Amino acid sequence: MRIGVDYYPEQWDRSMWQADSDLMAKTGVKLVRLGEFSWSRLEPRDGQFDFQWLDEAISTFSRHAIGIVLCIPTNCPPLWMYETYPDIIQAGPDGERIQTGIRGHRCINAPMFLYYAKRITEEMARRYANNPAIAAWQIDNEIEAYPCTCEACRGQFRDWLIDKHDTLENINAAFGNSVWSGEYSDISQIKPPTAYPKNWQNPALCLEFGRFASDSAAKFVNDMSQIIKRENPRAKVTANICFSANQPDFYRLFECLDFASFDNYPPIIIPEEGRKTSSNAFELDMIRGFKQKNFWIMEQLSGATGSWTYMSPTPRPGQIKGYAMQAMAHGADTVMFFRWRTANKGAEMFWHGLIDHSNVPSRRFTEFADLCRTAQKLSVIETTELVSEVAVLYSPDSHLAFGIQPQTEGFDYISQLKSFHAAFARCGVNVDVIHPTADLTKYKAVIAPAMYIYEKDAAENIYRYVIKGGTVVMTARSGVKDQFNNCILEPLPTVYREIIGAEVKEYDPIGSHEQTIKDFAGNKFKCRQWCDILELTTARAYAEYADSFYSGSPAVSMNRYCSGVAYYIGTVCDQEFYESFAGNIMKQTGIPRLKDLPRGVEVTTRTNGLDDYVFFFNNSDKEADIVLPKAMYSIIDGGDREKFTLKPYDMEIVRK
Ligand code: GLA
Ligand code: ZN
Repeated sequence: MRIGVDYYPEQWDRSMWQADSDLMAKTGVKLVRLGEFSWSRLEPRDGQFDFQWLDEAISTFSRHAIGIVLCIPTNCPPLWMYETYPDIIQAGPDGERIQTGIRGHRCINAPMFLYYAKRITEEMARRYANNPAIAAWQIDNEIEAYPCTCEACRGQFRDWLIDKHDTLENINAAFGNSVWSGEYSDISQIKPPTAYPKNWQNPALCLEFGRFASDSAAKFVNDMSQIIKRENPRAKVTANICFSANQPDFYRLFECLDFASFDNYPPIIIPEEGRKTSSNAFELDMIRGFKQKNFWIMEQLSGATGSWTYMSPTPRPGQIKGYAMQAMAHGADTVMFFRWRTANKGAEMFWHGLIDHSNVPSRRFTEFADLCRTAQKLSVIETTELVSEVAVLYSPDSHLAFGIQPQTEGFDYISQLKSFHAAFARCGVNVDVIHPTADLTKYKAVIAPAMYIYEKDAAENIYRYVIKGGTVVMTARSGVKDQFNNCILEPLPTVYREIIGAEVKEYDPIGSHEQTIKDFAGNKFKCRQWCDILELTTARAYAEYADSFYSGSPAVSMNRYCSGVAYYIGTVCDQEFYESFAGNIMKQTGIPRLKDLPRGVEVTTRTNGLDDYVFFFNNSDKEADIVLPKAMYSIIDGGDREKFTLKPYDMEIVRK
């Protein structure tokens, strides 16, 4: 496992580079990320390039055998470019150009921006072509599916729609534009959704525009990656991503890249509310799922966060090291910390790095150094990966569509995925988070929550899986919409009715009102947000409602279908339900579970096919006692372990 840091040479006096690289080498840092946001230094004037400082920075670090992650600085065009071509600035939902102030203002579809972005990428790709110091390339920073409404985006959105739908009539039909006289009679009338209240916009238009914006992001990274690879055929290229309101379809975005990477800022104070599902383990599994392979952390929590918001508490003892190890337990091979030094200038001077303004090695730095030492002992896990028996399906399309129409108070797509993920993870099993069209054959159980938008390939995939003997779990709000975000005219869950063996007679969007369901064993659980009142055709009831006018009606069903089983959960429950349910599914499908794991302890396994390495991570602020079924060899300390106590955020890794 490699530990790295993010470094901004342009923010520090040259005299500090040497001392910093010496300390990095001494501490055990193996990689440094450079160049992000430094376009104005690399091209101070149109067409005048200055790579000399970057050459020097690269050689300062590579002299210590510290590898370089080189960034394409396209997130921040220099001011001369904005001045000369104001058209490259994004336009907001009101159609007006956004204010430029901090960073990330460029429109990735603006032709002049693209011209310059390609040119700087080409210059860098050529200059550092096949340079052995360069371990990987990063494109831009936290690229999003910007809802930009500039002229270029408007035009390209129209072209994108025509390419996809062929004619204006088809677009009118797909969007249902006869509602409220919204029919287009000319292509010029097609506009991105505007600042007009979002809930009054056409959901079909919103979904297609979201897809267009997502495609634009994927195309941008693909174009830049190809330029890098033209000059460096063996280059490893990635983009560092975060989850945001405008996130693109990351499966598509990473398709053309070599590996996924993520900016990881886990919670410093574990919230009381939602404690049982608060772990970042879900996000990490999701990142691994984007390419179904190991990934990198490009930015890792290093200190108190803040600047444009209040500062957060400082990471608790154990979190600097522990959260990095947690990422590794979920498939990160490299963890880079944001950032080596806390900035003392600019808008982000209180988003703390590993070294504080005081320049005196702190408690956090000492812990980071300890992590570097531990990481060096873990080379054996570099060739291992996670193999899972449980998968949770994540649909970017349904996610986008729920963002457009949020259903009921409290209903949240990602929270549903997290509830299932946490419930299975609690039993010590690996969980994959994958696309609904991914190969499902290797899983013993597949959880497909709220498959809201009908995606033909995904539906066929689920049917095929169950027909061949798989166990699937589906939930309310599945099969609601067609691919254009219009409601399907059939009893719910429409296309999934046959496999579920039940249909929704009526639904009750109860929002924050609390009700109760009772399972077959008489256990009661609270439910909220949504209640599908089911009528069973071939299914049996697993749980029924215990109150309201539909008391006694099925709420959760189980159906045998061909050689497989399909469950349907028509409501949204407290975590206790998902934990009990996951336990039953594991029993039914023969997935072994670890019993009596203290709450907060996360267990995952990485394997190389011969040896299994089991990670025990105490993701809590209390000590946790672990008892293994037999003594196992610790690859951290090199002794046998049978009983051990984990301090808060501490990790043990044993060979099974
Ligand atoms: C993101 C960005 C970084 C920095 C950090 C801290 O993850 O990628 O450049 O802004 O947040 O705010
Ligand atoms: Zn634009």
